[in-house]
Amino acid sequence: MEMEKYLKELQKTEDLLSLTNEELLRFARNTDDFIAQLKIMTTPLKNHQKYVRELLRVGLSVEAAIVYREQARTYKETGREKEYLKNLYRYYETLLTTLYLPPVYEELKANALLYENTTLGPLFYYLAGFTQHFHLFEYEKAYDTYSHALNLFGQVKEKEFNRYDLIKYDDFKLILLSNMIDTLLRSLFKEGENKDHIARIRSHLEELKKIEKDRLFLAVNEIEFNLATGNIQEAAKLLMDIDNKIMHDKTKRHMLPVLYRTWALFSWRRQDTKGAVNYFKRALKEAILLQDEMRQKEIIDTIVLVLAMDTPYINIFSQEGKELLLYLLSTLLSKDWYLGEDHSKTVAEYSKKVAEAYNILGGEEINLGKIYLAGLLHDTGKLYIPWYILNKPTKPVDLEWESMRYHPAYGAIIMKKMGMPEFARYVEEHHERIDGSGYPYGIKNPHIISQIIGIVDDFAAATTLTRKYQKPLSPEEAIRELEKQKGIKFDSKVVEALKIAIKG
Ligand SMILES: [Fe+2]
Ligand SMILES: [Fe+2]
Repeated sequence: MEMEKYLKELQKTEDLLSLTNEELLRFARNTDDFIAQLKIMTTPLKNHQKYVRELLRVGLSVEAAIVYREQARTYKETGREKEYLKNLYRYYETLLTTLYLPPVYEELKANALLYENTTLGPLFYYLAGFTQHFHLFEYEKAYDTYSHALNLFGQVKEKEFNRYDLIKYDDFKLILLSNMIDTLLRSLFKEGENKDHIARIRSHLEELKKIEKDRLFLAVNEIEFNLATGNIQEAAKLLMDIDNKIMHDKTKRHMLPVLYRTWALFSWRRQDTKGAVNYFKRALKEAILLQDEMRQKEIIDTIVLVLAMDTPYINIFSQEGKELLLYLLSTLLSKDWYLGEDHSKTVAEYSKKVAEAYNILGGEEINLGKIYLAGLLHDTGKLYIPWYILNKPTKPVDLEWESMRYHPAYGAIIMKKMGMPEFARYVEEHHERIDGSGYPYGIKNPHIISQIIGIVDDFAAATTLTRKYQKPLSPEEAIRELEKQKGIKFDSKVVEALKIAIKG
């Protein structure tokens, strides 16, 4: 299919969720074809912004990033340095604000160093800070990286900067400051009062006041600051105020998830756990409706942070905590049509059965409760992957595949944040294999719990219709395939235990 024809089809596509199976299959084939053509392009794509806009509109952010990456490549090949840098930045921005891919992050850091003293230097550093902030939760590091970006920015001329037409000079400063405040707030949230942090937040809020016109982000930051320092009354006043502004202004609809998230934090601080749970659900729902992957991630992160707090309000062992955890799992169900909640339960139940058989065969004793919970949680990291990649009926290509491969790592990040480091390991290693042929890191000899979840997962994937490009095998055929991996990818006893569990 020609590129322009693809663009027309894209423009006609209203909403991927309302497509029939055949329509989605055709759409995915054409999109894969489009990506394949991009990669062999020798001249830049005309009207590439149109493609990007449409791709983002239907929720294909990774594909939009690929457009920028290929634009950058052709500009580089034709020696157009400025256009190359601009598209390279757009590529990193589009990808890393949605998804954390370690190899891409490494590449970005190398480029930040390389272009440190150019007009775009501050932007590259900002994205590195963003990754540390929102993906890796390294708040101190993120703060330092943002500060460095701000320093570099001080040497950049406004006119030069605006000429790149990436983001307006003032808007960039606003985002930088607002994110710096947020890193400090999150540290406060985690570690409690800290005089130095509070002083720095105050001074950044003052700077922010000077540049933001509608002051919505300023207000959100101020509310969180007041909540963190115990000034509930002031927080309530500000919150009512922005609630009014956002609810009565249709052009501010994109702020709804932020508003609900702030209400949730407010309720939580006032020990109104039911209210907090409800607002978190509304925030997440709104972000899903808006197809705003970044906000979804931010809300999930806040839920996880709240779940993990060692306070009497909500924790994973309380009723509300369990409700939120189950809600996260059901969100997974609505996001991943092939797998989802049923898959988690199947894997949990079978893993427990295999562990029972394994214990009888006489390996190290596996705790059955632990393996069941690990089975339930093993694919939680898929919450971070865009809907289209999880549900496309053709094979993931290019960066789509890369992002799928990192779901165990995303799951581990969530588990660690929840204060469940032991489970982080089980989840992180469920696609690793004993010979090092697994992913995402290719480490050898994964934990025995991960191996059992892994083999059950492979068995379930092979015997159910998970993707349309794969025909399901019969249980006997699947076992025969897995037997070939005995001692290579899986511990021999694990394969034996699976056979016993399936027969029983
Ligand atoms: Fe998985
Ligand atoms: Fe799985």
